[in-house]
Amino acid sequence: MAKMWSGRTDGVVDKLADDFNSSISFDCRMYRQDITGSMAHAAMLAAKNIITEAEAEELICGLEGILGDLESGALTFDPECEDIHMFVEQVLTQRIGDVGKKLHTARSRNDQVALDIRMYLRDEIDSIRALAKALISVLCEVSESHKATIMPGYTHLQRAQPITFGHHLMAYAMMLLRDADRLADCRRRMNLSPIGCCALAGTTYDTDRRFEAEKLGFDGICLNSLDGVSDRDFCAELMSDLSILMMHLSRFSEEVILWSSWEFKFIELSDTFSTGSSIMPQKKNPDMAELVRGKTGRVYGDLMGLLTTLKGLPLAYNKDMQEDKEGVFDACDTVKMCLEVFAGMIKTMTVRTDNMKKAAQTGFINATDLADYLVKKGMPFRAAYKISGKLVAECIEKKCVLEELSLEEYRAHSELFGEDLYGEIALETCVGKRISEGGTSVESVEAQIKWVKEQINKM
Ligand code: ARG
Repeated sequence: MAKMWSGRTDGVVDKLADDFNSSISFDCRMYRQDITGSMAHAAMLAAKNIITEAEAEELICGLEGILGDLESGALTFDPECEDIHMFVEQVLTQRIGDVGKKLHTARSRNDQVALDIRMYLRDEIDSIRALAKALISVLCEVSESHKATIMPGYTHLQRAQPITFGHHLMAYAMMLLRDADRLADCRRRMNLSPIGCCALAGTTYDTDRRFEAEKLGFDGICLNSLDGVSDRDFCAELMSDLSILMMHLSRFSEEVILWSSWEFKFIELSDTFSTGSSIMPQKKNPDMAELVRGKTGRVYGDLMGLLTTLKGLPLAYNKDMQEDKEGVFDACDTVKMCLEVFAGMIKTMTVRTDNMKKAAQTGFINATDLADYLVKKGMPFRAAYKISGKLVAECIEKKCVLEELSLEEYRAHSELFGEDLYGEIALETCVGKRISEGGTSVESVEAQIKWVKEQINKM
């Protein structure tokens, strides 16, 4: 069949070229945005007397019918159509006749597609933020139950100082909160309407871009028509934000994988969020976490793909830009799945507080507190640090922990040591005394949970 744009040519395209050119298989998911955008466009055309009120009514009524039929399944996408924009216009004209041909006045597919993506992605941002909020809320819940659960904190993956599991989890809540905030910021910049930029240069019709923008829930309009149709920053920005979010989930995944190993045994994943091996009967694998870690690469790839597509494009629209959609859709789909699975996985895991405690008891993670003890008795920190190190070496030699050395053994290093040192280096004390804001004490973790909850309630 000849294309709607036939004229200059007879519009008959080689089948191969036609398939290659077509985007309806993936841009069909923007049908709702496309149709709503067209309704607003028809209303604007009438408001500006470019078409009559009766014509606008016919157009809007026809568009409503198409939307309803697509939602119900009575109408399905025609793969022969080039893209969603052509499909809707074609069906509309078939249904209501020649009036349908008036819809595309003072508009181009270039500004239309830019409009549709912005509308689609701002909804995606809302869904992603809701899922991030749900995961943060799970983290607050689990942190609350484990605000006093002692585990080793690590640097260089070496046991460093005692912390609580609640404190550790809240670190991820903070990251996700920043992600949600970045997404809100991205949405704010995205929420400007390109419709009315037309093909590239604006239009000779007396249109009202702001009328249309307002009807569609935008905060304003793109102020340069060339930029309006060429700009895909909002896609790149969204995928950057999603890449950072995935980086956070990937780091978290790495820890979940380590923690659920036999070597750590800090957590046990629920049977409902782990898998077995087809050959090794004893296995229980953290596949969900591994997949989240793996899919992070995929989202980075989506971002890199678009940045590379855009880097050499002259203004204004180029067909290369049709390549924007699959990547950004994939990034959104992937992140949504990952957030949801992660929340389920964390909510259902069992925390092995006994193993965490056991691990915290070895590794001399109270050596800093031992040095601080001497500092509080008047010794300069560097000198105290040295003595604490020597005592650790002595323990390693004697195959014991700091708590097991006698007072005499301590006093051989410094007269400042007294009976009270044992209380000071107990893990509970080490944790309990880290009362600095943001620290690991129970009160501090409680304050963090309270603050994070306040933030998500505002979301
Ligand atoms: N399917 C196209 C896209 O996604 C719509 C815009 C087509 N514009 C054009 N001048 N051919 O980019």
